[in-house]
Formats: sequence, structure tokens, C-alpha cells
Amino acid sequence: MNRVALVTGGSRGIGAATVLRLAQMGYDLAFTYRVEAEKALALAKKVEELGRRALPIQLDLAELAEIKGVVDRVAHDLGEPVILVNNAGYVQRIAPENLSLEDWERMIRVSLTAPFLFIQAAVPYMKKAGFGRIVNVSSLRALTGSAHGVHYSAAKAGLLGLTKSFALALAPFGITVNAVCPGFVNTDINKEQLEKHGVEILKQIPLGRVAEPTEVAALIGFLCSEEAGYITGATFSINGGLRMD
Ligand SMILES: NC(=O)c1ccc[n+]([C@@H]2O[C@H](COP(=O)([O-])OP(=O)(O)OC[C@H]3O[C@@H](n4cnc5c(N)ncnc54)[C@H](OP(=O)(O)O)[C@@H]3O)[C@@H](O)[C@H]2O)c1
Repeated sequence: MNRVALVTGGSRGIGAATVLRLAQMGYDLAFTYRVEAEKALALAKKVEELGRRALPIQLDLAELAEIKGVVDRVAHDLGEPVILVNNAGYVQRIAPENLSLEDWERMIRVSLTAPFLFIQAAVPYMKKAGFGRIVNVSSLRALTGSAHGVHYSAAKAGLLGLTKSFALALAPFGITVNAVCPGFVNTDINKEQLEKHGVEILKQIPLGRVAEPTEVAALIGFLCSEEAGYITGATFSINGGLRMD
């Protein structure tokens, strides 16, 4: 079996930690980034230092028409992918009354439609291998809602439906599909919010701290492992106890 994984948004944060985790697990890594080319190249070097091959690919996930070509390029240049982590994402804090249709549509494209298209393009390779692992990075906000991120919360909640539906469709082929819902993680995405409201946020987290990206990557890595073969269609919270389901 090809040991090739594809991670979207691999240049920074949770995605970069996941790339390294999967490389440590013996996978060659393709990963996308949008603008941070320098960070992507530095990460590729680290993957190579771990003895694995790396293929960084520039892609704005809003460019949906390019997604199938990217997955096929990974298959051609690195090997047919058997692991897919739909991780890339962004937040936009905005009151619902000021949210434009353009902002709404961009968020849905990047955070919901792009993951759908990545799965659709990668699945034929996984079916061929008789093995596949797909992890979708959702959010605590999919479960709680978000007064200043209606579009973010809606897209991330949609990702949970997508996860369960593909889990059903792909179970007969040895392909598992799961979702993770991080709470607050120490990455650029919520730097501003943590700087402004860190004290109040930490008070609400029973474990009293935010997560490190490596902690989320460890969960994703486990869901991608062969040992996790009986877990599918599941949603995993990783939020320090902020919300217990
Ligand atoms: N951090 C948290 O507290 C938290 C909590 C819940 C859920 N999450 C989710 O976890 C995922 C990773 O977040 P993070 O905290 O690691 O964020 P991050 O550090 O800001 O990294 C985001 C990654 O996504 C890429 N990206 C952003 N917009 C993109 C676009 N339009 N097209 C392609 N790539 C794009 C970025 O590429 P560039 O580096 O090139 O910009 C980067 O690699 C996201 O889906 C986020 O919603 C994070």
C-alpha cells in the first residue's frame, strides 16, 4: 500500500503539526497552503529530515475547479493518497447583520465545498488501495454556534453531516471518515481573540489552558492509523472540557 497522505492547510498551526505527525508515522506528505510559501518550504524540509518525501502545493481552496487536479497531481508525483485530512480554514469575526453574501459563500466554499471535492477526488485512490482514512477538522463552534461567525459555524456543522454521510457511503470499502472539533488551540487563527480576551476564555476551560497544535495532531494521527479501523462517522471533541457532550 502507498503510504501517502494529503493535508490541506499544512503550512501552519494544526495542519503543520499534522503533517509532521503523519511523517513520523511513516507517510510521505503532500500538503496545501494558500500564501505562506516560506513556511510551507520549511515544513517540507522538516518532513524530509524525518526521512519522508514532501510535496507542498499552493492552492486557494476557494478555487474549487482546481481541487481534482491537485489530488491527481499528488497521485502522479508522490503516490496515490490513502489519507486525507481536510484541515484548511479561516475565521472571520463579523456580526450576522453585516455578513455579505460574498463572505458567506467564500466561507462555505473553503470550509465545506472544498472538503467535499477533496474527498470525492481522493476516494477512487483509497478504494483501489482497499484502505482509507479521512479526517475533517471541524470546530467547537459547529456544536455551540457562533454569534460572530454564523457562516463559520454553519460550514463547520455542515462538515459533520458530510463526515457521517461519507462514513456510511465508504464503510464497505475499508475507508473511515471522522471529524475532530477543537476548542481553543494555540495557533494564528485565534491569536487576536486570545490576546484580547485570554483571561476570560481560560476561566471557561476546565483544564485552564488552550491546546497545543501537536495535541490535536495526535488525535488526528490516531484516527488515521490502522488501529483506528473500527471508528467511523464519529465526532471527537478536543476542548479541555469546555463543552462535554
Ligand atoms: N485554532 C483553533 O483554535 C481552532 C479551533 C477550532 C477549529 N479550528 C480549525 O482548525 C483548522 C486549522 O486551523 P489553525 O488554527 O491551524 O489555523 P491557522 O494556523 O490559521 O492555519 C490555517 C491553515 O489553513 C490555510 N488556509 C486558510 N485559508 C485558506 C484558503 N482559503 N485556501 C487554502 N488554504 C487556506 C492556511 O494557509 P496559509 O498558511 O498559506 O495562509 C494555513 O495552512 C481550521 O479548519 C480551523 O477552522 C481551529
